[in-house]
Amino acid sequence: MGKFTVLNHPLIQHKLTIIRRKDTSTNEFRQIVGEIAGLMVYEMTRDLPLENVEIETPIGKTTQKQLAGKKPVIVPILRAGLGMVDGVLQMIPSARVGHIGMYRDEETLKPHEYFFKMPPDIEERECIIVDPMLATGGSANMAIEALKKRGAKNIRLAVLVAAPEGVRKVQEENPDVDIYAAAEDEKLMDNGYIYPGLGDAGDRLFGTK
Ligand code: URA
Repeated sequence: MGKFTVLNHPLIQHKLTIIRRKDTSTNEFRQIVGEIAGLMVYEMTRDLPLENVEIETPIGKTTQKQLAGKKPVIVPILRAGLGMVDGVLQMIPSARVGHIGMYRDEETLKPHEYFFKMPPDIEERECIIVDPMLATGGSANMAIEALKKRGAKNIRLAVLVAAPEGVRKVQEENPDVDIYAAAEDEKLMDNGYIYPGLGDAGDRLFGTK
């Protein structure tokens, strides 16, 4: 089964409390989502492989380390995932960015893919899917399947707030994918919101409500 890790660094917890507050402005919400995403990805990438590289400092030759292999790809699920991209890029400026667009069918409530654009060679890249809320797990599983269908082999999922139901669903359907969250909340409510959560992450990021 995929690992589920809550990255409960004090700075992450503090920032998450600010964005949970209903009075937090769009401006502050957006900025802090980015900050949390950056801190999360810093913790998540502790195990990225390194390789030796010969360099020359102003003083002399030396062998040092650099990240090995192709650049990782950050994959925001549209639209709320976009709010996490800049923060991640501050930590990994050379990362590529792929996009997955999905909408939820009003009748079946099932997610449908309408947009998919990735850099080449995703089978050789570490793929980090970002989406602020892991609620039912439907969109996350669909994004994971969409990447696997195009050959991706190393996929991680980063969310700010996870519902236990969503974590279980992803672990059941995609046991090879590790999940990272800033917090695991109490439950998923019947209306699809996470309790206590932070409300609609997309609306709060983009000021659409
Ligand atoms: N998506 C959101 O934006 N918020 C929730 O609480 C659940 C899903």
